[in-house]
Amino acid sequence: MSKVILTGDRPTGKLHLGHYVGSLENRVKIQEDPNNEMYIMVADQQALTDNADNPKKIQDNLLEVALDYLAVGLDPNKSTIFIQSQIPQLPELTVYYLNLVTVSRLERNPTVKSEIKEKGFEKSLPTGFLVYPVSQAADITAFKATHVPVGDDQKPMLEQAREVVRDFNRIYDTDALVEPELMLPPKGRGRLVGTDGRGKMSKSLNNGIYLSDSPDEIEKKVMKMYTDPDHIHVEDPGKVEGNVVFTYLDIFDEDKEKVAELKEQYQKGGLGDVKIKRYLNEVLQAKLAPIRERREEYAQDPGYVLDMLKQGSEKAERVAAQTLDEVKDAMGINYF
Ligand code: TRP
Repeated sequence: MSKVILTGDRPTGKLHLGHYVGSLENRVKIQEDPNNEMYIMVADQQALTDNADNPKKIQDNLLEVALDYLAVGLDPNKSTIFIQSQIPQLPELTVYYLNLVTVSRLERNPTVKSEIKEKGFEKSLPTGFLVYPVSQAADITAFKATHVPVGDDQKPMLEQAREVVRDFNRIYDTDALVEPELMLPPKGRGRLVGTDGRGKMSKSLNNGIYLSDSPDEIEKKVMKMYTDPDHIHVEDPGKVEGNVVFTYLDIFDEDKEKVAELKEQYQKGGLGDVKIKRYLNEVLQAKLAPIRERREEYAQDPGYVLDMLKQGSEKAERVAAQTLDEVKDAMGINYF
């Protein structure tokens, strides 16, 4: 069965290993199946909903995110990579969808709710921020996406999009819009813990290893990684659960036997943290070197990257325009 997939990222920072494990790696797989048609959106408009006073940050990171995409192997010949703000049909769809969604429904969205708290928006909530789930419904439906690969925090967005589709199709007696399904990451993937072991890897917690990090930066971060705080002497038995070094080895080391052996030794006692960190460092360096090198090559040719984004945006606009036309037809507002 063929699938249409829509995913995106807010360009508020460079992408890190958490993005890689949670989605980028999976996108590359999705892209290689010829039955799939994938749209990848740099969600600059959404990023502006809580960065209105700092457009420079979004502008700068737009290119960084595009470089990260190309570096991990997303291929503009196989996937359509585009910029949200360049597709005027998206906000136009949003306007029509907004009439179908109540304020209280938006205020109940658990992701929006916790983001409002996090950002201290309780007293000064930008309207654009409150309604971004509706704009996300426009992103998804504009391309008639059947599948949206997202992590847990985006589930409420997908639910909201599904409601918009059902309501729209029912009210205007049409099947113009397609109800999207959630596509979960493969087993053992998904949310990656940060190097400090305290929460998921994120820019705000400053616990990330970035796809663009230099070999030195990677090594420093690995050597500072959270392990087992009770493993004080090399000969002490150590804990593997919650030990970030082993969590990462499980994910990034293909030599599963070696990881099993190291775990056993560590649990018995006699294996030091420095040793396992040095080993993890080797594994991560090998993983990240080709990504970083490809990234550096593309970074030397920003003109190519911009042109790729422009062409992707032109294609995305053609598709979105077709959907918008159907939407306006269904609503009976194509007057001329
Ligand atoms: N909200 C997503 C994020 O924070 C970005 C995004 C915008 C998105 N529109 C989307 C993701 C549509 C999937 C589908 O990363």
